[in-house]
Amino acid sequence: MTYSARDVPAEEFEASVKDFVSNGGRGLNCTVPLKELAYSVAGGLSARAKLAKAVNTLVVSDDGQLYGDNTDGIGLIQDLTLNLQLDLGGKDILLLGAGGASRGILGPLLDQRPNRLIIANRTVAKAEKLALEFNDYGVLHARNLADLKGDTFDLIVNATAASLSNDLPEIPCEILNEHGCCYDLAYGREPTAFVRWGLESGASKSVDGLGMLIEQAAEAFVLWRGVRPDTSEVIDLLNSERNAD
Ligand code: ATR
Repeated sequence: MTYSARDVPAEEFEASVKDFVSNGGRGLNCTVPLKELAYSVAGGLSARAKLAKAVNTLVVSDDGQLYGDNTDGIGLIQDLTLNLQLDLGGKDILLLGAGGASRGILGPLLDQRPNRLIIANRTVAKAEKLALEFNDYGVLHARNLADLKGDTFDLIVNATAASLSNDLPEIPCEILNEHGCCYDLAYGREPTAFVRWGLESGASKSVDGLGMLIEQAAEAFVLWRGVRPDTSEVIDLLNSERNAD
């Protein structure tokens, strides 16, 4: 079995997937900005892919049909609950950002039955739209970033694209509870601006999304091969490589 990375421009995505399948490919992952395209090429979709309106895993059936799934949300939950040992039930959670990344994790976060989930975005209308759409899945409220002042949270998840340009969303200070945690979906060799903000704000844990990356990949492997790899070894290996840099 081989698994390798390919840089595929959006306009070549469909032809590239067809080519991959006709050459015997059995499964693939897609990342930003191809997840919506993967959603549109899939013949069948899982419930969680339908909710996310995005696909990060395509499974090729024996007759060459494409089945789309989304393992991002479950990957995040595995990292939060198993690796970081956080119990999200009854907690106050803040989700920053209202783009594709937030859409992919909203359903799985609400499944954890938090006390409340606040979705805050620079452009509040987008957060309001998402809150309305996911209203049936749990208690979800939309806010402006500035309106967070005076409130506190047990967990703050950064799903904005700010980390990609090493920026920090404009959030008020002192919105993290005493034993609160920060989680950035983005990851890199150096701590992101948000991870640093969490540490400076006294977070008991402030981590980036490397664990989520590994867990979503493990869930994709389950879909292709029916076996879940041991992720702890991979997490240790990648963390030690990162620390050695
Ligand atoms: P993705 O698919 O990665 O979620 P996206 O759909 O373009 O990408 O969404 C990006 C999100 O990051 C949006 O919520 C965006 O806020 P706006 O809706 O107001 O544009 C948010 N974002 C990007 N840069 C940001 C910044 N510097 N500060 C705060 N939010 C930012």
